Amino acid sequence: MQKITIAIDGYSACGKSTLAKALAAHLHYTYADSGAMYRCITLYALRKGVIKDGSFLEEEIVKLLPEIKLSFKFNPDTKSSDTFLNGENVEKDIRQMVVSENVSQVSAIHQVRVHMIAIQRELGKNRGIVMDGRDIGSNVFPDAELKLFMISDTEIRTQRRFDEIKAKGLHHVSYSDVKVNLLSRDHEDTHRRENPLVQAKDAIVLDNSDLTREEQLEFVVKLVTDLTLSES
Ligand code: CDP
Repeated sequence: MQKITIAIDGYSACGKSTLAKALAAHLHYTYADSGAMYRCITLYALRKGVIKDGSFLEEEIVKLLPEIKLSFKFNPDTKSSDTFLNGENVEKDIRQMVVSENVSQVSAIHQVRVHMIAIQRELGKNRGIVMDGRDIGSNVFPDAELKLFMISDTEIRTQRRFDEIKAKGLHHVSYSDVKVNLLSRDHEDTHRRENPLVQAKDAIVLDNSDLTREEQLEFVVKLVTDLTLSES
């Protein structure tokens, strides 16, 4: 069956990655987490001391870009790919609150976006990919055969992200810290000048507030099957 490109966009913690991972595993496609890439740049800049107390100079972050090598490797235990920064597995570190608090500002920098989008297009050049993020259907892969725009109730997504953070052993973070961060990133991501989060006009809206993981996967697998059958 012919492989397609699947773009999944939406607000923070809507379950994009959960769906994208399950879908990629089901279809034997590559999964790429574009948010993890922006998180890696942010983590690296924090470690280098270039971001301090939420402030930084854009040029200092841009200067770091050539030093950063990103890669993804399949983890048989979690049955998903882990993110590597210069050869180090940073899958857990990039989910820390301090990264979440700075990533939207870092991802708004023009040169950072240009650099990341080139890598993302390279990853997707042979199709057979599920990529999630904010501008995947609207900008990175405007020709994607399937575009989804995910939405979910704010309290539900806060609770989901809060549970994820606790499961990672980060116990000092409160429910309200998580909610404030999600809402502030949503605001920054939708209001930035370059490649803001927007619903592509040909995207299908998927509200998963009341859907189980299995139900949302079943819904999207049906869309893919219909698409690939009609194209072959
Ligand atoms: O997991 P969550 O939905 O909270 O966020 P993420 O997908 O890990 O993305 C982290 C941040 O990276 C977002 O809040 C955006 O600021 C930025 N991002 C972006 O600008 N463009 C993308 N394609 C993906 C993420």
